[in-house]
Amino acid sequence: MKKEAISLLDKNYPLVSNLANLASFLYSSLPSINWVGFYLVDKKKGYLYLGPFMGPVACYMIPFNKGICGRSCRNKEVIIIDDVHLDKEHIACSSLTNSEMVIPIIKNNEVVALLDIDSPILSRFINKEENEELIDICKYLEGLF
Ligand code: SME
Repeated sequence: MKKEAISLLDKNYPLVSNLANLASFLYSSLPSINWVGFYLVDKKKGYLYLGPFMGPVACYMIPFNKGICGRSCRNKEVIIIDDVHLDKEHIACSSLTNSEMVIPIIKNNEVVALLDIDSPILSRFINKEENEELIDICKYLEGLF
């Protein structure tokens, strides 16, 4: 999956186009997910705003102090939530979502965007190999910002 994802990306095209194709690719490649997409950082305004995604409509913006996405951004860390209903910070965009993974995209030591993946399956994100591949894809994405 990682190789295909990376070979899809092309620095000659705008960032938004690359993220859109990657969201589409991940949506069709990852089993048992109901949403995958990007939130981008607006440092001046102090929030994350919705970027390219696949799945049902989602929140336009997430303040840095809210949501799993906000926490991932503040702490510059990958977050895996086995049961979103047990996490008080979780922002529910779809009632179908039961587990979630958020990966920060870090450039020059600052978070520039996040990859957010939702699943209807509890504890969906337990496959370490797959998780590492997703983290590697996000590392590669730094070069596009
Ligand atoms: N669940 C996220 C919000 C974004 S949606 O999942 C698409 C959060 O808690 O930050």
